[in-house]
Amino acid sequence: MLELDLNIPCGDVALEEKLDLDDPLRHLKDDSELEGIIASEGLARASQSMSELLTVLPQQSHSVEDGLLKFSFTHEWESVPRPLSISLVVDASPGCGGLAWPAGQILASYLVQKGPEYLQDKNVLELGSGTGLVGLAVGVLAMEARGTWITDQAPLLPIMTRNVCLNRLEGRVHVAELNWGSSIPEDIPLPDVILAADCVYFEPAFPLLVKTLSDLSTSKTDIFFCYKKRRKADKRFFNMLRKHFSWKEVLDDPGRPIYSREAITMIQLFKLKA
Ligand SMILES: C[S@@+](CC[C@H](N)C(=O)[O-])C[C@H]1O[C@@H](n2cnc3c(N)ncnc32)[C@H](O)[C@@H]1O
Repeated sequence: MLELDLNIPCGDVALEEKLDLDDPLRHLKDDSELEGIIASEGLARASQSMSELLTVLPQQSHSVEDGLLKFSFTHEWESVPRPLSISLVVDASPGCGGLAWPAGQILASYLVQKGPEYLQDKNVLELGSGTGLVGLAVGVLAMEARGTWITDQAPLLPIMTRNVCLNRLEGRVHVAELNWGSSIPEDIPLPDVILAADCVYFEPAFPLLVKTLSDLSTSKTDIFFCYKKRRKADKRFFNMLRKHFSWKEVLDDPGRPIYSREAITMIQLFKLKA
């Protein structure tokens, strides 16, 4: 299990909280943070280290074609198109989720390598899907999955719906509004697998995200959570999380030595029995 350093100086956290309230998205606007994500005009704004991340991740590459971002994942699965390709409209106007963040690319890549058998007969739900990359990759990978739900706040739903159509995944990947902390819509079934990429960045949302993770899961749910460590205050998220979940780092991902250099970690959460 991961050990958390709880010796956070209170003064630092108080200052972080104040700055967060003044500008909730300040961590995502930091110039160095923007390096390596895919910008709204469809171009990678890559620093040396992050372009390395995006191009050296095993079995993954991306290109820009006709204004669309195209991700290709190579793999060994005979039943799945090779390479597994996802085309994405990216658009920063509805918010940070309209861009393709490295954690989402890493989680998608991990699931592709894990293979279709793992997802057979499962309901899969992604939280904070943004463009939908992770859930769309699951939709292509897992013909035998029961269903995949990509979820986010209302402003992101149009871009998610466009990306479902673009990849011809209607009927297999469902788009739904799910605001963390709110009750779970009745038409979303209890998932067997929950996915979340880069959802820890805004402190007021921490308890809401923990509540939704808890509402959606049982001790049998598989939860994969890929996040970038941005600041000391993120530890407060894990302090909230530990009341309902334990976790362990995912160690069997070949890309881990590369993305861990960028402070990105993938963990699997386990719901504690009540
Ligand atoms: C940094 S983006 C990551 C998007 C995507 N997972 C990726 O990796 O590219 C964070 C996502 O969380 C979503 N989000 C933030 N607060 C939320 C909330 N309270 N309820 C639902 N989604 C939320 C945002 O809309 C955004 O799509």
